Amino acid sequence: MTDVGLYEAMRTLRAVRRLRPDPIPADVLHRVLEAATWAPTGGNVQPWRVIVVREPARKQALQRLYAEQWQRYVAGHRGLPAAADDAARARGERMLRAGNHLAEHFAEVPIHLVFCFNPQLMAITDAALPRVSVVGGASIYPAVQNLLLACRAEGLGCVLTTLLCACEDEVRALLEIPQPWATAADVPIGYPKLRGHGPISRRGVEKMAFADGWGRPFGAGPAA
Ligand SMILES: Cc1cc2nc3c(=O)[nH]c(=O)nc-3n(C[C@H](O)[C@H](O)[C@H](O)COP(=O)(O)O)c2cc1C
Repeated sequence: MTDVGLYEAMRTLRAVRRLRPDPIPADVLHRVLEAATWAPTGGNVQPWRVIVVREPARKQALQRLYAEQWQRYVAGHRGLPAAADDAARARGERMLRAGNHLAEHFAEVPIHLVFCFNPQLMAITDAALPRVSVVGGASIYPAVQNLLLACRAEGLGCVLTTLLCACEDEVRALLEIPQPWATAADVPIGYPKLRGHGPISRRGVEKMAFADGWGRPFGAGPAA
């Protein structure tokens, strides 16, 4: 484990899609899974489980499914608006190249962590609203994020993927997932082939945070 601080880990946690096939020691795997269990969930119910996929045949089957979804995603990818600058364009192209690499080497990744959830164990407070429901995800993805940060601390590359959710029936059959459990994410983890985690590009606080009302600029302001 590295002694990376929490803020440094968050600031350098990026999608790492080129992963070596080298095995992950059992104690390391246990620590990152344990970090996931520490995440908060609605009512502390922990309505998620994770399937640790290591068998080559199942990983091969996942690769076939993932590659199909990835091709579909790339075909429908609208690219960046004409106004996008060269740096943004270069980032987009790097992402597509790394995504292709992951899709082509999916089964070589030592471990896929398939996160599942049970909607019947959740109080989904926005389920009746006439818009897409997101509250249920808040009892799953904090666990995934804890796991990603723990991977960062362990020097493991990782990336949150959701493309396999589109072929959930096939994943369900492959991994013996009973109803009403469903799939939320697949996180491939492994030691990085290249530099691994590093600098990220994100919008800053001044764009993301408002002061007291929507659209009101959040400046330095008085101390709260
Ligand atoms: C909800 C969600 C779904 C994602 N699904 C995929 C996916 O299916 N495949 C993939 O390669 N990356 C996926 N990603 C990774 C994002 O593309 C990545 O986090 C984003 O482009 C930022 O990249 P960076 O962290 O390297 O800056 C997903 C991320 C999130 C948060």
